[in-house]
Order: sequence, then structure tokens, then C-alpha cells
Amino acid sequence: MPLQTVTVLAPAKLNLSLDVVGTLPGGYHALDMVMQAVTLYEELTLRRSPFLTVRMPGSFVPVNEKNTALRAALAFFDYTGLLAGVDITVHKNTPVRAGMGGGSADAAGVLVGMNELFGARLSMSELCAIGAGLGADVPFALMGGTCRVQGKGDLLKPLPPCPACGFVIVMPSVGVSTPEAFKRYDALGTPFHPDCEAQEQAVRAGDLAGVCAAAGNALEACSGAAKTPAIRAALTAAGARASLMTGSGAAVYGIFATGAEAQAAAGALRQSGQKVYTAVPDRGGARVVCPARAKPQPAR
Ligand code: C5P
Repeated sequence: MPLQTVTVLAPAKLNLSLDVVGTLPGGYHALDMVMQAVTLYEELTLRRSPFLTVRMPGSFVPVNEKNTALRAALAFFDYTGLLAGVDITVHKNTPVRAGMGGGSADAAGVLVGMNELFGARLSMSELCAIGAGLGADVPFALMGGTCRVQGKGDLLKPLPPCPACGFVIVMPSVGVSTPEAFKRYDALGTPFHPDCEAQEQAVRAGDLAGVCAAAGNALEACSGAAKTPAIRAALTAAGARASLMTGSGAAVYGIFATGAEAQAAAGALRQSGQKVYTAVPDRGGARVVCPARAKPQPAR
């Protein structure tokens, strides 16, 4: 009996570090980053249907030709040659124009969900190849966990899980457009380059203090997000071991020693009236959660 419905969770991401190391053809930038999936999820339901429809209830993100979920569905049909339809509902929990990869998570969730729904059995590398054509952060949204990410965002090196910690994420009322942030970077440059190699080594050593010491974002100064310094100061005052902007902004987050410390700090930060989220590291990427996969039985 073919599957009729699947439910997918697709984690948002934080940049533990982000450096710009050059330019690439097509106006893209060569990046060096350590990226971390977090326990803040886009929730997708995909149903077989005679039509192709995408709904994002409660979100202002338009469902047009730029919508990453719709583009992912079209790319999946294009790649597989399947003649079918799908009805996709995305409950967006990740802030928009935040630098948290919500649009990429939607695309990754659709690819993973359609792969399961239609039994297409595409490999992770095939999904990543399709995803790379949809957006620079989609391969990471598929892979998840902790990765060193280079190139345009498509060269992934999976790392061991980052040391246990908690995150408090503050989203100001004004978001940032990624292409505009990179345009400002081209005009202004940056005096700051985080040491992504040192951070990779700290992740490998399970050294949270080292991860925090190397945390930083080369786009922070030119992002145009006016609230970043004030949010960083508030996070530091609330006990964060490090604070930085994620991606091209505008969300700013703090790293805390534990999830419980992060929860306590979030309470204080919510008084400011800004949107505040808490999360911990997630070890996976976009995945089907229903129907649950049967766990392989150990051999007797
Ligand atoms: O690939 P994606 O659509 O997510 O990228 C959005 C924009 O961000 C690109 O059009 C480009 O202006 C900028 N970008 C970049 N270099 C990257 C990733 C994104 O310049 N490596």
C-alpha cells in the first residue's frame, strides 16, 4: 500500500562561525563556516494529491515562484521524472530573514518528505545535489548536526556533535535580506575573520570554551541590523559565554553552558518585548518522523 501522508521535521541552523574568504563566479561568496542544527523545527506534512499545492498557514512568506518549498517540489519531480502531485503544508516556526535557514529547511523538508512519500530512494548525495541548486544552505539543512561548511555552502564536512550547550536566540523586529547583506559586504568589507579551523578543532575536542572563543561572524558589522550590539550586550549580561549574529542576520544568539541556563536567561530577555527562542544542538537534519521508521532488530 503506497504511503499517503508523511510528516517531516526540518531543523533551523545557527552559524557557530561565519567567515567570507573570497568571491565566486555568479556573484556568490566563498564562505568558511561551522554550522549547527538546532531544536527549532519547520514542521511539514506532505500528502499525495492530483495537484501541486503549498500552504504556509500563519506565515507571511508568499507561495510564489521564489518559495523554496514549491521550488523543491518542482526540482524533485524534474529530477525523478515522476508524474504525480503533492499537497504540502508547512508550519513555519523559524523566524524569517533571521539567518537561521528557515527557507532552506523548508526545501530540505520537502525533498526528504517527497523521497519517502513516493518511495524514490534518492541517496543523501542526490538530495544534496538537488538542494544545492535551490539555495546555498539547503545541503546543510539536509545533513544537519554539526558541519564545517565551505565553498558557496555546498562543501560539507560532518563533524562530531558540538559539545552540549544551550542557545538563546533573539530576533529583532526588522529582518535582513541576504543578497543585500552580501552587497553591503562587497562595499564595506570586514576587519574581522573568525578562526573556523580553531572552532572545528574545539568541536572535535568537545571543548565548549574553545567553541565560544572562536565564535564570530564576518557579516556582522555590515549586516545593517541595527540592534545587534544591544542584543549581544543583553545576552552577555544574562550570562552568555559567547554572543554573535547568525548567517546574514538579523537574529543574534548567545551560547550558554546548559539548556537550563539558556531557559533562565531567556526569561529575562523576553522582558525586552523582542522575540526570544531557546534551543539546544540537534544531531540530525531534515527527517521523516511519521510514519516512524521501524528500528532494525539486532541479529540474534
Ligand atoms: O543561495 P541563496 O538563495 O540562499 O542565497 C541568497 C543570496 O545570498 C544570493 O543571491 C547571494 O546574493 C548571497 N550569497 C552569497 N554567497 C553565498 C551564499 C549566498 O553571496 N555563499
